[in-house]
Amino acid sequence: LLERVERRFAEPAAHKQIELITELEPPLPRIQADIAQLDRVLDNLLNNAIRHTANGGRIRLHARRHAERVIISVEDNGEGIAYGQQGRIFEPFVQVGRKKGGAGLGLALCKEIVQLHGGRMGVFSRPGQGTQFYMALPV
Ligand SMILES: Nc1ncnc2c1ncn2[C@@H]1O[C@H](COP(=O)(O)OP(=O)(O)O)[C@@H](O)[C@H]1O
Ligand SMILES: [Mg+2]
Repeated sequence: LLERVERRFAEPAAHKQIELITELEPPLPRIQADIAQLDRVLDNLLNNAIRHTANGGRIRLHARRHAERVIISVEDNGEGIAYGQQGRIFEPFVQVGRKKGGAGLGLALCKEIVQLHGGRMGVFSRPGQGTQFYMALPV
């Protein structure tokens, strides 16, 4: 999943001289998932990360097991998200700042897909330093 998304975004990342790295922490268990839907989640997270990261930045894709969950994260060193907005960005139509992507539906859709897999999704961000989106999917 992560290696394929890395390939899909190699060109747009290179276009902004953004370093795109994937780190897998073995052993990773197999999970039951709708791969096309998880591709859609990762596509949205990567599109957002590239849009909100400056030229020459870095985006890291990471997967590890934590108890009965697999944690997949997309972390950038871009502009970050104001603390007051972090709780709202998963709501439909919420967009923050001026760099609009689509219609503000991407993260709402991501969260819905992850929840349909029995998982949950969240964000850690420090304004001016970067953002990490993660999803915890049940093994
Ligand atoms: N990696 C990121 N860095 C900074 N802000 C982000 C990032 N990802 C999402 N956001 C913020 O969350 C908002 C909602 O994202 P999303 O639902 O995908 O909508 P859209 O991409 O259409 O704007 C974005 O408008 C943006 O303000
Ligand atoms: Mg988006």
